[in-house]
Amino acid sequence: MWKENGQEAAASTVRRAAVLGAGIMGGGIAYQSALRGTPVVMKDITAASLDLGMREAGRLLGKQVSGGKMTGEAAQAVLSSIVPTLDYGGFGTVDVVVEAVVESLGIKRGVLAEVEALVPAHAVLASNTSSLSITDLAANLKRPENFVGMHFFNPVPSMPLVEVIRGERTSAAAVATVVDYARRLGKTPVVVADCPGFLVNRILTAYILAFLRLVRDGVDFVAIDKAMEAYGWPMGPAYLQDVVGMDTASHVIDVIGKGYASRLKIDGEHAVALMARAGRLGQKSGVGFYRYVRDDKGRPVKSPADDTHALLAMIQPGGTRAMDAEEIVARMMLPMVIEAAHCLESGVAASAADIDMSLVLGLGFPRQIGGALHHADALGAREVLAACERLADLGDLYRPTAGMVLLAERNGRYFE
Ligand SMILES: NC(=O)c1ccc[n+]([C@@H]2O[C@H](COP(=O)([O-])OP(=O)(O)OC[C@H]3O[C@@H](n4cnc5c(N)ncnc54)[C@H](O)[C@@H]3O)[C@@H](O)[C@H]2O)c1
Repeated sequence: MWKENGQEAAASTVRRAAVLGAGIMGGGIAYQSALRGTPVVMKDITAASLDLGMREAGRLLGKQVSGGKMTGEAAQAVLSSIVPTLDYGGFGTVDVVVEAVVESLGIKRGVLAEVEALVPAHAVLASNTSSLSITDLAANLKRPENFVGMHFFNPVPSMPLVEVIRGERTSAAAVATVVDYARRLGKTPVVVADCPGFLVNRILTAYILAFLRLVRDGVDFVAIDKAMEAYGWPMGPAYLQDVVGMDTASHVIDVIGKGYASRLKIDGEHAVALMARAGRLGQKSGVGFYRYVRDDKGRPVKSPADDTHALLAMIQPGGTRAMDAEEIVARMMLPMVIEAAHCLESGVAASAADIDMSLVLGLGFPRQIGGALHHADALGAREVLAACERLADLGDLYRPTAGMVLLAERNGRYFE
């Protein structure tokens, strides 16, 4: 059951699922569905991709068996409930299709229209897009009410959050069905509105913009990482960009930033774009902000990259400057609080609790702090507003929302 605007919609149970695309995400979603008892058809356009997807599922199941979590027979049964296919065989009886093909509006639209004609009329189509609008993707569908976003995080088996995105024409019943399916997969769904970056990556972008501004202002990225790790983040923002990869990170910053131009904008070339241009893609290329060598188990281990500071000097017009950890944390966290407040005030998520839970589960926001809005409460609404005023010269990234001003006036809290 899903309740929205006072209306309740019943979920229809997903008994059979299909996944389009057997890549990093599609393969993970198919594995998770089968593991949790919903058989799945997995379609790709190349046999090599299907083989890769099946091998990965086999490897993950092998780990379950060697870890004593599953018998060999049970693992075999799970594996055989994933049916790889190069055609649409089996799509006539599925209740949900999760689309996870390449991130292209044209290709996704084409694939979705093709599959819509083959599935039962009740079936829900869900896209795992990370940057395209759900409303735009639905433009040429015959049953746009049955179309919804279902945004998983990478790696699918271990990341607990799924954003369920309501497009303009998505029905409450489609949302209910996907919320229920996400729970069956053992995930925590959060229902969000269709906006650039949805909820989690939108708020992350504000945080990364704060990082890029600090670097441009001459602050040492190692000092920023140290300050944020001491605050409680599992990794600092420079290290995070190395893990994500500069090409991907740069694309995300540009695409989401465009959606909020005045606020999530940085003038001139930023550090991540500079790294990408220099071919320093992060862990995957062996060097980004840091340098990486593989340990004897093949895991990347980070060490300082001596030439990074010289490279960054190209985008630090005022040279370098020292900044204490407290100020770094203030400059990093405030844009996150502000973006979370925007999401709350414009109804992107239903509640402050949904926003903070999503940041903890989707981003690894320090659990002991509890999320951006818990952080704001811990500081106090008046203190947050005073920090915005103090940093006002830094531009719109630090401009408080109307709701933040009102909250400070009554000295209120997000969590009473
Ligand atoms: N990788 C991530 O971290 C991540 C996280 C969240 C969402 N996403 C989104 O998930 C989607 C897939 O990303 P990925 O990283 O798994 O990509 P990927 O390149 O690993 O996999 C894409 C797969 O789709 C297949 N494909 C292409 N056209 C197809 C078609 N017409 N029909 C069926 N299969 C087709 C390709 O052969 C490939 O196997 C993208 O929309 C991406 O934005 C990715």
